[in-house]
Amino acid sequence: MTPEIDEAREAALSAIGHADTVADLERVVAEHLGKRGALAGLKKGLGAIDDADARRAAGAAMHASRTALEEAIEARRGELGGVETELRIAEEQLDLTEFRSDGSRGHLHIVTQAWQRLEDVFLGLGFSVAEGPEVETDWHNFEALNMGEGHPARGEFDTLFVDHVPPGGRLGTTLLRTHTSPVQIRTMLTQEPPIYVVAPGRVFRRDTPDATHMPVFHQIEGLVVDRGISMTDLAGTIEAFTKAFFGAGFTSRLRPSYFPFTEPSAEFDIQRPDGSWLELGGCGMVHPAVIRAGGLDPDEWSGFAFGFGIDRMAVMRHGVADIRDMYVNDIRFIEQF
Ligand code: PHE
Repeated sequence: MTPEIDEAREAALSAIGHADTVADLERVVAEHLGKRGALAGLKKGLGAIDDADARRAAGAAMHASRTALEEAIEARRGELGGVETELRIAEEQLDLTEFRSDGSRGHLHIVTQAWQRLEDVFLGLGFSVAEGPEVETDWHNFEALNMGEGHPARGEFDTLFVDHVPPGGRLGTTLLRTHTSPVQIRTMLTQEPPIYVVAPGRVFRRDTPDATHMPVFHQIEGLVVDRGISMTDLAGTIEAFTKAFFGAGFTSRLRPSYFPFTEPSAEFDIQRPDGSWLELGGCGMVHPAVIRAGGLDPDEWSGFAFGFGIDRMAVMRHGVADIRDMYVNDIRFIEQF
């Protein structure tokens, strides 16, 4: 039987050599080495060989053929795979020096667009823009916001710590801000009230990226501190923002909630023209302890604060199905907007 085995092996080797795509190769493998292939047929016949020596010889030839074919397949798969990868790279290559004569231009990232529109709307409502650092102290990010050491709410912010020991301080007290709320503290400490600011910026949480979460995202914080500010001012501001940003057909509501740094606290939702509700962010009256941490007297000053995500605004506006797509800078994604 050895000559038939040799013949089947040579036929298979030749087909492997002629396969010119990975897919083609897989077809060859199925055809020649699969259950209905010539070798499989011959293998079934091995048991019927009467002569023990001849049977052993045929078995050995069968084994040697299989081994040789498997090696040839692996080698060919490597070659073809490499070629296909190179082809794909060549096809997807972008000429970044290319001059676009069709008059088309690039555009701002859709999160930047949302960020700027939000700023515009709040500027129109009389707010100015405040900033704070992305690397924060745990005092600004937690302590001053009424979340002392061991406060359970700290656990809800999956905090990323920075490997830095501040002068006279200790390890584990420098972090990537988990929200934009520390800008409330920095603003109160550096600006005289009345304060009417929004603070858009990047925030960080220890999170595995998925379709709706990124460990780096963006929030916009609002802070008002003035004399005689009440919950009505908060509700009115949220409503004015909702109409200005989303359109006249939209409205808003506050729902009781809890944040350590506001009292009372609420979540705010917006209602779309079709009647459906969408949860947007958190807000509330600035807690007296927070006003005090900001260096102000809570008997004289009161205020409200709010915060919500910016990335979601871009996702909603453009119908992005997977938030991760916004951060891989794939031109095929970017060019859609
Ligand atoms: N900082 C809160 C968060 O990240 C949102 C918030 C801001 C709530 C201001 C109340 C007031 O969830």
